[in-house]
Amino acid sequence: MCKPQKSGILVLEKQNLMNKTKILVTGGLGFIGSHTVVELIQSGLEPIIVDDLSNSELFILDRIEQITGSRPKFYPYDVCDSDKLKTVFSENKNIKACIHFAAKKAVGESMKIPLVYYRTNLVSLLNVLETMKEFNADCFVFSSSATVYGQPEHLPANESSPLQKATSSYGSTKQMAEDILEKVSATGSLKTLSLRYFNPVGAHQSALIGELPKGIPNNLMPFVTQTAIGIREKLTVFGNDYNTPDGTCIRDYIHVVDLAKAHVNACNYLLTHADSISYDVFNIGTGKGISVLEIVSAFEEVNKVKVPYIIGSRRDGDVESIYASCSKANQILKWEAQYTLEDMVKDAWNWEKAYRKHTK
Ligand code: WQD
Repeated sequence: MCKPQKSGILVLEKQNLMNKTKILVTGGLGFIGSHTVVELIQSGLEPIIVDDLSNSELFILDRIEQITGSRPKFYPYDVCDSDKLKTVFSENKNIKACIHFAAKKAVGESMKIPLVYYRTNLVSLLNVLETMKEFNADCFVFSSSATVYGQPEHLPANESSPLQKATSSYGSTKQMAEDILEKVSATGSLKTLSLRYFNPVGAHQSALIGELPKGIPNNLMPFVTQTAIGIREKLTVFGNDYNTPDGTCIRDYIHVVDLAKAHVNACNYLLTHADSISYDVFNIGTGKGISVLEIVSAFEEVNKVKVPYIIGSRRDGDVESIYASCSKANQILKWEAQYTLEDMVKDAWNWEKAYRKHTK
């Protein structure tokens, strides 16, 4: 905050900046991480980013500054490097909380290189937890996933739905991480909220940040936008013989900005309920199940662009249908998804077009 003084010189109220609550955001330049950093800044918190740029790009930091007017501290470090992590904590006294995004997250890839997934996703988690303990930071928001449910017996999936055996190495790293967090939090040294995301899609309305898949996209929405813009010749729909209304798989797609806001609410909840929380999990979705073909037709209709597709065979590891019950997050985190399917496909398309212009 700046106050004009008699001399007319603006004096920055240092104590104002100094008092902002510091939140470590690992993977903070990634798809969900960057959107969460924007929302943290805009809600008056001070994110500190650690990101090794293995699945993100440095220009996103400039874009965060462009959107918010503030440039968060950034460390180009691998969270698997405990010495580097200690440097971040020692250079930023009083980091209160951590939102941990840094992990590998492609279901299909995880089946091809499981050891890389177990090492990266578990060592990074353990490093962060051990360093937080050393520096007395005890609030932790974990990026979990609906994958932990497998194919639920009953829908919508709620947080007490039994977890089926994960169908991918990616999913089992999330199940193992949740188990580690629950056990560590039970000692009283950590307060943790695990957020089980459903399917994050879309982009910031400014079209300055969005999803940046490296190589051929694993996920549906970036494949749709890259097909629509002509980078991919056609989309392959992985199976239309499921027991669903149009035969294609059903998911709970959630706008990435809604998901980012859920992290801010989760952080604030931890910071204001430190004495009454140990470990808890929350579904973060919309509660609506949408099929692959419904995504394609909504995208074509809203954006007035064709998405050529063929029907291919089923993809290993896919569950037939999953969508969330989010009443727990609605009530406790005071969070509810606001963006519609139309917003998701429009914002995803605007980002794709803007990004291609930027890379020309
Ligand atoms: C969605 C649907 C595919 C691509 C995973 C993780 C989850 C989260 C999102 C991290 C499925 C179909 C896809 C394509 C297709 N990860 N599809 N053709 O597998 O539901 O979830 O990614 O945040 O934790 O589990 O997402 O987008 O890969 O697939 O038909 O080219 O689209 O079969 O039915 P998924 P997805």
